[in-house]
Amino acid sequence: MKERILIIGSLNMDMVIEMKRMPLKGETVLGNTLAYIPGGKGANQAFAAGMLGGNAVMLGCVGKDSLGDRLRENMKKSGTDTAGIAQTENASTGMAVIYVDDGGDNSIVVLSGANGACDVQYLKNNDELIRESSYIVFQMEIPAEAVYYGIRRAKELGKTVILNPAPAPDYLPDDILSKIDYLTPNETELLKLTGKAEFSEENIREGAQELLQKGVQNVLVTLGDKGVMLVNRAGINLYPTRKVNAVDTTAAGDCFNGAFVVGLAEGMSQKEAIRFANTASSIAVTRKGAQSSIPDRREVELVMEQMGKNL
Ligand code: RIB
Repeated sequence: MKERILIIGSLNMDMVIEMKRMPLKGETVLGNTLAYIPGGKGANQAFAAGMLGGNAVMLGCVGKDSLGDRLRENMKKSGTDTAGIAQTENASTGMAVIYVDDGGDNSIVVLSGANGACDVQYLKNNDELIRESSYIVFQMEIPAEAVYYGIRRAKELGKTVILNPAPAPDYLPDDILSKIDYLTPNETELLKLTGKAEFSEENIREGAQELLQKGVQNVLVTLGDKGVMLVNRAGINLYPTRKVNAVDTTAAGDCFNGAFVVGLAEGMSQKEAIRFANTASSIAVTRKGAQSSIPDRREVELVMEQMGKNL
């Protein structure tokens, strides 16, 4: 039986607008297309874990509405267990408005809605799932107290904790940092978390070291087309990724996180799990949308075979 992976987080319906370039403050631009695509950082990571062969379960909340039904139905296609996803009558399903420009870059605004019901009480009601899982993955699109409660509870039970700090809070409490096995920010999130204004490689390295000193076991910084940087007590290592023609980077980090935890759960070394996750997200950026861009296991293995040692 494969080790169980529990992903606790948000589900959003993404309203994706493609445009030549992003509007500046106060400017109006014309969009090209509009599409509704299943998303949400938690759901994307759970979807990726399922698609890539993980024994994955998702906890999160949607509204009692058709968007919520669509999100749950779509998640089932990945093989991820959706039985614990709750429906609340108090709010409508979370939504995200996503602008994607010609270069594949995006800007995202999230309306949390029903994700707010993924609270401490809901996690307490689902304690059995936490107890039965080996790897627990969080992001920051549900109430922060629920994330903190979940991390404390997971660590109390001896689980491996992965936190993707997105969207980045201004800070994370020290007792939370000391319970994280893998913190997976992108560059911007890392700088925000460590209060560094200037974007530089030195600040990224320094920020990651500071987080280690506060007790994080491994800081895995996703660097977009430059790959990822793993910082831990053994040192700093850069793992480049293959070059592709990116059309949409939405959910690339989510795909990385979902794939990485699948690798860990299968007993891959950190290096192997990173190589696997880098490959999965390098495929995701060549496709449009969030869950619509996530590859399955066969596709990832094919690319890994083709690339061989060049990955
Ligand atoms: O990481 C991408 C995701 O961020 C989107 O799917 C959107 O829903 C927001 O949560």
